[in-house]
Amino acid sequence: SHPGWPAKLGPLTVPAGDVTLRPIRLRDAAVWSRTRMRDRAHLEPWEPSGDASWELRHAISSWPPLFSSLKAEARRGTMLPMVIELNGEFCGQITVGNIVRGALRSAWIGYWVSKDVGGQGVATAALALGLDHCFGPVGLHRVEATVRPENQASQAVLRKVGFREEGLLKRYLDVDGAWRDHILVAMTVGETPGTVADVLVRSGRAAWA
Ligand code: ACO
Repeated sequence: SHPGWPAKLGPLTVPAGDVTLRPIRLRDAAVWSRTRMRDRAHLEPWEPSGDASWELRHAISSWPPLFSSLKAEARRGTMLPMVIELNGEFCGQITVGNIVRGALRSAWIGYWVSKDVGGQGVATAALALGLDHCFGPVGLHRVEATVRPENQASQAVLRKVGFREEGLLKRYLDVDGAWRDHILVAMTVGETPGTVADVLVRSGRAAWA
């Protein structure tokens, strides 16, 4: 069983508009490919390296096999692969992965948004919705994230929703062609007063639609 999946989350309103999360779809292929091709320079420094070229990995034809493997993990209960929508339009992805239950009840979370919606609170709102879902219906106790020390924008996003820094993971992940150090941040259930979205709403960064 996979509590909390599938789900549609939000909307949470930010200056750019209404942010919602929903499961990935097979028909996301064209917009996924177009966005990732156009925003290569914005995304590549922060994303896991791949064997094939960026162009090949982001061809429209690369989505169906990627979609299938993500959906298979979702069915097994180990992943929540979601799309971030702004005003109903695809603008990025947020993924909860390596969901482990039992006495750990933990997972990681990662995200990207298109360059043209940047700096308007979209990733922050998406992360809040994703975290509240993990700590609520999904029943997790801990969610962690890893971020490169050079990725100031993502660190700001993580801070705004209340992640705590736990340490520096040396040469942790193969990103942009080399083994890169990453900062490990985490949050356990109940660390924020109320929900994570409430924290954003109270600080004036978001509003309930
Ligand atoms: N230096 C310092 N702060 C910065 C910079 C910078 N160069 N650029 C942006 N910021 C700050 C903004 O001021 C804002 O903080 P504020 O609200 O306190 O002013 C914050 O970063 C951005 O907040 P949002 O608008 O909610 O974020 P956005 O929707 O722009 O998305 C994201 C940020 C996800 C990092 C986006 O730029 C992106 O997709 N980048 C490429 C992929 C990526 O890095 N993904 C994250 C990998 S790490 C992980 O997944 C845990």
